[in-house]
Amino acid sequence: MCGIVGYIGARDCTEVLMDGLEKLEYRGYDSAGIAVFENDIIKTVKTRGKLEEMQKKLQTEGKPTGHCGIGHTRWATHGEPSDINSHPHSNGRVTIVHNGIIENYIQLKEFLTEKGYVFTSQTDSEVVACLLDYYYAERDPLRAIIETVKELEGSYALGIIFRDFPDRVYATRKESPLIVGIGQGEYFIGSDIPAFLKYTKNYVLLGDDEIVCMNGQDISYFDVHGLPVEKEVSVAEWDVEQAQKCGYPHYMLKEIHEQPEVVRKMLNSAVKDGVPDFSEIGLTDDFMRDVKRIFVVACGTAMYAGMVGRYAIERLARVPVTVEVASEFRYMNPIVGEGDLVIVVSQSGETADTKASLELSKALGAKTLAIVNVKYSAIARGADMFIHTPAGPEIAVASTKAYTVQITALYLIAFRIAFARGTIDEEELKRLTAQLGNAPKAIKDIINNKDECQFIASQLVNAENLFFIGRGFDYALSLEGSLKLKEITYIHSEAYAAGELKHGTISLIEDKIPVITVATQSEVLAKTISNMEEVKSRGAFIIAICRRGTVFSPESVDIRLELDTVLEDMLIPLPTAAALQLIAYYTSVLRGIDPDKPRNLAKSVTTE
Ligand code: G6P
Repeated sequence: MCGIVGYIGARDCTEVLMDGLEKLEYRGYDSAGIAVFENDIIKTVKTRGKLEEMQKKLQTEGKPTGHCGIGHTRWATHGEPSDINSHPHSNGRVTIVHNGIIENYIQLKEFLTEKGYVFTSQTDSEVVACLLDYYYAERDPLRAIIETVKELEGSYALGIIFRDFPDRVYATRKESPLIVGIGQGEYFIGSDIPAFLKYTKNYVLLGDDEIVCMNGQDISYFDVHGLPVEKEVSVAEWDVEQAQKCGYPHYMLKEIHEQPEVVRKMLNSAVKDGVPDFSEIGLTDDFMRDVKRIFVVACGTAMYAGMVGRYAIERLARVPVTVEVASEFRYMNPIVGEGDLVIVVSQSGETADTKASLELSKALGAKTLAIVNVKYSAIARGADMFIHTPAGPEIAVASTKAYTVQITALYLIAFRIAFARGTIDEEELKRLTAQLGNAPKAIKDIINNKDECQFIASQLVNAENLFFIGRGFDYALSLEGSLKLKEITYIHSEAYAAGELKHGTISLIEDKIPVITVATQSEVLAKTISNMEEVKSRGAFIIAICRRGTVFSPESVDIRLELDTVLEDMLIPLPTAAALQLIAYYTSVLRGIDPDKPRNLAKSVTTE
């Protein structure tokens, strides 16, 4: 959701900004723009649409040449996607780019209108430019920013340039990500590290309401009172290749292929002497033994990973686990408190509802554990305990490798909790951990078998509606498979617990409607098969995902995708997930959609 970039240094600023915006495309956007100082005059180019539109506009309007500027990709919240609503926004002597939501913008707009400011856009962001101008009476940029942020309610990351200072970029943030890149005599800002990774790996994280001022020679940080702050420079672990397609046609396909390796990394980082060990982060056996209840709170795919975790933890450790959608949890006055463990799961670590749920859980006295892919994110830093999922940068909007690594982390937690509570012994703990060690190969086997997924995709390409059914772990997988498919193919899809479909929804089953039946769990296989037959007898086109050799009655299945794996049932979601991701991916491509950039979606959802 919205990407911010900024640059000051010797390079061609427009190129750096456009390159950075391209790297942030994955966040989702519907318009873009840049503002660059050209001979002391700010030149702004912005447009509705994708970066290709921007490139065209830069050609027709002329590319600003300069060394200092800011840029933005906008994901519309207040006001439709249009040239006028696109950032940067200028008013008076100030030009800004903004990510986040200014919740009190109506009051601020009224105040500023009374003071004579005229607004041209429908955005909440334009009030920030006006307010900065209003407080710029003494021509002191730092003072103007300090006074402005005091009045802003909501979340913001801001890149700011002042007409009178063509050699400075200012930035500040609160509850929205903003990272400063430190080069040799050049500085960057970006919503995420890939925005400037090509130029430098050194970065600084700005705290809430901290302000950075960068000019070509120097960089300074201030707190909200204007006092200087010392900041620590960190070095990104990611390299440029990880944030590039490396010969794959899409990031999504590349990320699906990376899964065996990143699942292996997760195992390597959490397994010691053949068993999962989280004592270093404070998740000790003593704590796990006494925990009363567990909540897994997340959004989207991360929440579906939580469902797999729930089945595993409850089955092995016999602790009650509730999985909640973060946007509901935070407003449901949840019955959570001391003795409970709240696990928040997030790829980006910035999702607004997940973050608010984390804060609420802490305030209510629960212990919190974050399972997060972006180490430097707010959620990772805010939780009592933090497990890093080493999936590397996930660029495609639809989450794939982050999901499988989240599941892997949750399995390891389930094993350890079960051991701590005595529901499994050490031998079983070692056996399960070793079993999980087979997951990378099982995922690889599915990826090597991608032709079969491609064939299934060819059978789905013209579908208007389809269903996924499954029970237990297969139900959790159905939910994620269905989400993946609808996200990137725009085919209407619903996932049902296989036994629930007959309670109403079966009326939608008609001739040739595809029903993807996930049937990998032997305990409930017979039940799932009878549910599959119920829909088959009403004309459904059945695609079954099952273990090799699963016996179905003749003619009950139209296509089967068979998994060859030594993994036990509980762990089979890992290769199954890869199969469902590949089916969604190929269906998307066959439908002529760019799976990396599905319409209306944002990768990192920093608004409620
Ligand atoms: C967005 C993304 C989803 C993701 C969800 C949660 O909706 O499009 O792919 O699952 O946010 O994101 P998080 O970063 O918290 O995992």
